[in-house]
Amino acid sequence: MLRCEKVTSRISGFYKLPPGERLKAVAEQAGLGQEEVSQVKKGLELDQADKMVENVIGVFQVPLGIATNFVIDGREVLVPMATEEPSVIAAASNGARMARESGGFLTSSSGPVMRGQIQVTGISDPFGARQTILLHKDELTRMANDRDPLLVKYGGGVKDIEIQVIDSRIGPMVVVHLIVDCRDAMGANAVNTMAEALAPRMEEITGGRVYLRIISNLADRRLARAKAVFKAEDIGGHEVVDGIIQAAALAEVDPYRAATHNKGIMNGITAVVLATGNDTRAVESGAHAYASIQGRYRSLTRYEKNKDGDLVGTIELPVAVGLVGGATRVHPVAKSAVKILGVKSADDLSRIIAAVGLCQNFAALRALASEGIQRGHMSLHAKNVAAQAGAKCDLIEIIAARMAAERRISVDRAVELMKELEEKGQETN
Ligand code: MEV
Repeated sequence: MLRCEKVTSRISGFYKLPPGERLKAVAEQAGLGQEEVSQVKKGLELDQADKMVENVIGVFQVPLGIATNFVIDGREVLVPMATEEPSVIAAASNGARMARESGGFLTSSSGPVMRGQIQVTGISDPFGARQTILLHKDELTRMANDRDPLLVKYGGGVKDIEIQVIDSRIGPMVVVHLIVDCRDAMGANAVNTMAEALAPRMEEITGGRVYLRIISNLADRRLARAKAVFKAEDIGGHEVVDGIIQAAALAEVDPYRAATHNKGIMNGITAVVLATGNDTRAVESGAHAYASIQGRYRSLTRYEKNKDGDLVGTIELPVAVGLVGGATRVHPVAKSAVKILGVKSADDLSRIIAAVGLCQNFAALRALASEGIQRGHMSLHAKNVAAQAGAKCDLIEIIAARMAAERRISVDRAVELMKELEEKGQETN
């Protein structure tokens, strides 16, 4: 099926539709075929899982939802999110709706460049070794690129070699950084293969001993950025703007708050990374390491007031994701998630992910600066509790609404309400 001519992420009443109808609406926009739709419904099957990891005994499922309302670089984007946490997708959709009033999110990136590290030890003249390695830069670059001609053909490969002399607890070490443009790959395989291939030559040149040969997840050459302006009138007024700026200022200087602030960002980021079959741990370690790059753990977003008194939010963080290789190309749901996003390159995907992170963070801070986050959480929590108590179909909604209104959400209360409603039902029959 072809992608719908007029894609819009503003699908009115989307949240009220049953899941099958939501999927139909998304499939129409994204041009998902019947086979893809049924794969999204079925999820990962056992024989597919068995080819992905070892010792498989089952499949652990996580809900897949769609965040609506996103406009990113002028394009309407439906965002698939895989998460077990209630309120995350609703909050992202809500934040995106507020951002779209002033044009949505604008993004940029530093390109899909990763670092591979080669640790050379046992060198008595590390600065001399550094210069020797640099004298062999062209030869080493050629050797590394020979390991991945396809990547080179697409414009990627080793672009530079940087060398650090690091004074460790057990003496100085020379750490060679291969700077590799990974194009549409996340890059771990390509970079690790190159680093391993160079190790013997590095030992010959330096007379040292190589131990580590591995990618660095602190992907500070693969930064994605996003910016949005939230008009004060669209987000609840100037007091909300001030509240968000106050909250963000604390997260810039206090690691206790920064950890929670960044956790909120990662609620959005990890959900998209997972939905697209990418490596959540790689992106998470990169984000948190980057948050500490100045020697102190800080928040990954900044909030300011522009001259009109509106809120300007920005984010910058490493987002090492790919479209080729890994689960992205084999997981049937991840393949559809990529199609729904309509991305053409890993770089596009990384910028969307940054925008979602900013949006998620904005939505959390807005709730914290106004009504608090519990009210939003409560209605879904109440539905879970009603279902746990054994309520079925419409009764779940009715009991959840009653419990949320009473602010008494427990399995015992749900059972009481169920009995009450059953008795009423019998009286009227
Ligand atoms: C909860 O999953 C995330 C928040 O704690 C984030 C934040 O405090 O900014 C709400």
